[in-house]
Order: sequence, then C-alpha cells, then structure tokens
Amino acid sequence: MPSFTQDEATHYDSRIERLVPGYQLLHELVQAQLQTVLPAEAQILIVGAGTGKEVLQLAHSNPHWTFIVQDVSDDMLAIADQNFTNLGLSERVTIHSGPLEPGQYQADVALCLLVMHFVPDNGAKLELLESIHSNLKPGKSLLMADLMKPETLFERESQLKHCRAIGLTEVGEERMRYNLEHEFYPLDRIRLAELLDESGFSSAHMFFKALGFSGLTCVRQ
Ligand SMILES: C[S@@+](CC[C@H](N)C(=O)[O-])C[C@H]1O[C@@H](n2cnc3c(N)ncnc32)[C@H](O)[C@@H]1O
Repeated sequence: MPSFTQDEATHYDSRIERLVPGYQLLHELVQAQLQTVLPAEAQILIVGAGTGKEVLQLAHSNPHWTFIVQDVSDDMLAIADQNFTNLGLSERVTIHSGPLEPGQYQADVALCLLVMHFVPDNGAKLELLESIHSNLKPGKSLLMADLMKPETLFERESQLKHCRAIGLTEVGEERMRYNLEHEFYPLDRIRLAELLDESGFSSAHMFFKALGFSGLTCVRQ
C-alpha cells in the first residue's frame, strides 16, 4: 500500500482526482444519499478519511452533522485537521488516529471510501469490517468504495487511458500500472459478499461504478 505519509500526503489532494475516475462524482453521490437517509442530527464515522474530503463535501449539507475522522496516517490527518481549522469546522469533528476500539462509537452511518482495497485479505479486511460494524448502530448503513477485481480483460488498461485523458502524466501512468498490480488487494463480488456476511453486514447494493472502482452500500445487521 502507498504510505500516505510525507510527500504522498502533501500531494494527495492534487493527485487523487487523476487516479480515481469519477472521484468527485463518487463523493457527490455519497452526499446525496446521506442527505436522503440521515436525520438533521447525526454522527458520521469516516474510516480512512485521509485529508478530510468527506467532511469537506458533507459539512455544508447539514450544519448539525458531526464527524469522527479516522485514519492510520498521522500525516494525512494533519492535513485534514488544518483543512477543518481553515473552514471553521473543527468543533464538529473528532479526529481519531489509529485503529478503532470495539464499540467506541455509535455512529448513524459509516463511510469507508477508497480504503479497503489497500488492506490485504489475510484477516485484515475482515478485521476492518468488524471494527466498522461494532462502531455503527444496528440497522445503519456502511457506504464504501473500492477497486474491485477486473471484470473484463481491458478494464484496467482502459482505466489508465482515462487517467491519462484527465491529466495523469506518463510517469504517473507507469506508477499507477505498477500499483494496480502490486499495491492493491481488490476483491471480486463473491469474496466481498462472504466478508460482509462474516462481519455482520447485509449484502451490498452498488451505487457507483467507474471501470474498476465500485461504490457499494450495505446495512449493519
Ligand atoms: C486513497 S485514501 C482515501 C481518503 C479519503 N477517504 C478520500 O476519499 O479521499 C486512503 C486512506 O486510507 C487510509 N488507510 C489505509 N489503511 C487503513 C486502515 N486499515 N484503517 C484506516 N485507514 C486506512 C490511508 O492512510 C489513506 O489516508
């Protein structure tokens, strides 16, 4: 997995839109769904929040929503913290560095966007899903987005072509080509369904698809 420290953290915001087709749309579709399903007062758990994009996208949808912003990279969280300060959002945000404790929070919804594909399927993906499960109220939703196993022989190559078209450099393309092969742990739909079932979530419904990237929502049982 990329380290998400130092330069990788500093340059994250300027790079991510060229690496994930539909990155902005994905966040807008999450926003639309939360505006539809959440009450006026709600606590939103953001797992792997990085530099805080989810909060920046959602904070103005409802002034009473509060956020738990969790990540394992202190460098990403430092940028998020600065962003929240600049926008006067700090009072609505709890920053959580490191893994979640079981049952530490009782969130009304959980987001885990572009995170789980970096976690190996050696027990660690299951552990991550279980930790989200135990910090979410029963009956509430998890919205996630991940790179999935390719469903056609030309999907990955097409993704790289699209990334070039939206501004990725040749060097960036080569790095991404390597990363797609070596730094991600994508699931297929069947394995994802098994992990969701094992960790206590319902089966998933897709709300977003941009070549390899899928956005999915499921419910904590
Ligand atoms: C591609 S960024 C996504 C950030 C943000 N969700 C977004 O949509 O821009 C992935 C983030 O996941 C974090 N991460 C990786 N493994 C994690 C884990 N096991 N638990 C929590 N965060 C993790 C990384 O530190 C990084 O900040």
